[in-house]
Amino acid sequence: MPTLETTVNGLKLPNPFVIGSGPPGTNGNVIGKAFDEGWGAVICKTISLEADKVTNVQPRYARLRARDSKEIIGWENIELISDRSFDVWVEELKAVKDKYPDRILIASIMEEFNKDAWQEITERCQDLGVDAFELNFSCPHGLPERKMGAAMGENPEILEEVSGWVNEVSKVPVWAKLTPNVTHIEDQTRAAFRAECEGVAAINTIRSVLGVNLDTLRPEPSVEGYTTPGGYSSRAVMPIALRMCMEISKVIREEFPDRTLSGIGGIETGEDAAQFILLGADTVQVCTGVMKFGYRMVADMCEQLLAFMEKHKFETLDDFKGHSLQYFTTHSDLVARQAQARADAKSAKDKKMIDADDQWSGDDFVDQSDALARG
Ligand SMILES: Cc1cc2nc3c(=O)[nH]c(=O)nc-3n(C[C@H](O)[C@H](O)[C@H](O)COP(=O)(O)O)c2cc1C
Repeated sequence: MPTLETTVNGLKLPNPFVIGSGPPGTNGNVIGKAFDEGWGAVICKTISLEADKVTNVQPRYARLRARDSKEIIGWENIELISDRSFDVWVEELKAVKDKYPDRILIASIMEEFNKDAWQEITERCQDLGVDAFELNFSCPHGLPERKMGAAMGENPEILEEVSGWVNEVSKVPVWAKLTPNVTHIEDQTRAAFRAECEGVAAINTIRSVLGVNLDTLRPEPSVEGYTTPGGYSSRAVMPIALRMCMEISKVIREEFPDRTLSGIGGIETGEDAAQFILLGADTVQVCTGVMKFGYRMVADMCEQLLAFMEKHKFETLDDFKGHSLQYFTTHSDLVARQAQARADAKSAKDKKMIDADDQWSGDDFVDQSDALARG
């Protein structure tokens, strides 16, 4: 019988499913609910010392639906970090740790570019017993106006310096949460690891404009007729998240083999989680999924992941972590491999394939596109 239990940076989790920072970890009450339903760990909504600088608007979400099924596939938010005071958070996090001493509670923290503030919030949270930190270097909206969040995380030097401040005083593991709104996420990954972070988490949301309402001609979400670009999450972002996790895993394998990755982005099922783990993730986080399906989804996700493991005879997560990384190569290598395979099979001319761009025909266009997806 396979097991989902795992130990990551010394933290013992009953399963790899972690509540990602956001509404599903926004107060002590819902964090308790997540533990009761069986989540492996919870990361609280991002907290800061000065919540009075945080003012949210309504509406602050906008959603993209599939044309036919109407399923929500994309979700934009312009929500800020927690607007609840640090003192309230201290009480609630303490109460959660008292009630669930064996469960893993991770504090997501964020401050301005100020060493004293970052070290103060780190020390005060670890004094109340949190098990680890996630540094929010990645919120794409609102906070960059105060040079916080993604404004820091886009710059590897700043990310390294701030992570260093936290690691100077932290006695528990520290993960840096990375923004996808960069060209090469490897640069941010290396900066976090040079500063001694035990792990990275990726991805946060992708900067987006969800759409324009064709009746009002106003972009969404519309607040008094106006909007601001927000962060995109949910199923639609999973392919981008998988690509970035693959790139991060390569850096871990080749340069920092003792560090870890928490994969995030559009995860809703055990099969989604399996794909992130196959590309090197140690844990997986879910945020928007909980907003769509509720806390109970974790039971199904565990069952689905166990079924995948049984099918492949994997006993532990380590048995398949990173297994699929070996199948990434360069495009020129794909060309060479295909030429070899065709020469071997001598079957290329029988296939309805496009070998050169002048073979595309206007009449068979959809069939030809389809054939190129099938291979
Ligand atoms: C409404 C909303 C609020 C969020 N707030 C935070 C936050 O406070 N801190 C943070 O690090 N990430 C925040 N996130 C980002 C998520 O933790 C996650 O990185 C992202 O949404 C992608 O994962 P998902 O598709 O599972 O939601 C938020 C996401 C949403 C949808």
